[in-house]
Amino acid sequence: MRKPMMAGNWKMNMTVAEALALTLQIDQLVGEATAVEQLLCPPFLCLHPLKEAAAAMPFSLGAQNCHWQDSGAFTGEISPPMLRGLVDYVIIGHSERRQLFGETDKSVNKKTHAALTHQLTPIVCVGESLDQNERGETAAVITAQVSAALDGLSAGQVQSLVIAYEPIWAIGTGRAATAQTAGEICGLVRAVLRQLHGNAVADLTRVLYGGSANPDNISAIMEQPDIDGALIGGASLQARSYADMVKITAEIYSP
Ligand code: 13P
Repeated sequence: MRKPMMAGNWKMNMTVAEALALTLQIDQLVGEATAVEQLLCPPFLCLHPLKEAAAAMPFSLGAQNCHWQDSGAFTGEISPPMLRGLVDYVIIGHSERRQLFGETDKSVNKKTHAALTHQLTPIVCVGESLDQNERGETAAVITAQVSAALDGLSAGQVQSLVIAYEPIWAIGTGRAATAQTAGEICGLVRAVLRQLHGNAVADLTRVLYGGSANPDNISAIMEQPDIDGALIGGASLQARSYADMVKITAEIYSP
């Protein structure tokens, strides 16, 4: 019912030439189109070249961020109308943006509204810090972040978007959450959706796990019933490891 997704967040990596080469390699390694949605989120500069080059390949494209205004005096920013037609998705509120660039639940909410207004599918990121995790605050933090991000959205809008649970302590550390914990927290995200918008919406909305996901742990992660895919950083920068994750997931979902 929910199409599984392997989303590569390339962060601030890859020149245009490198991005094109990596995309071609992935396409060759994955081979025939699978039941898994392959989403590539390269830096902004790579989006247009990739859109052209990958037109015949089975990739969705996503941006890593956007502003909430349509246009204006916001030096260095990119707006949703600029991305419309170019990408399918936009990552919003990644923990690196929250921690390093001052994003808040409020800006995440504004960006989510703006993206939806311009026919972009937000991938809304939530996740607790190590301190919060150790203090036993994970459930409260995730509930608050999900509720704040989705504030004011209709049920139809919520079921169209994607939520990514990315515990901050697992990002780039090689220390992924256990599949069981990841599954439980993604289940909690779904419970919040159920509380806010009912069963149908909760059943349709895709929830991803992110944080040191790799070919070795993806199988256990994807076996979790509440996890619909992964938001992958480091392992998405190598064609082989990303392609392996797509193929392992396709295997799990094959009838
Ligand atoms: P890593 O897979 O490198 O831990 O990064 C996860 C992430 O932040 C994806 O958005």
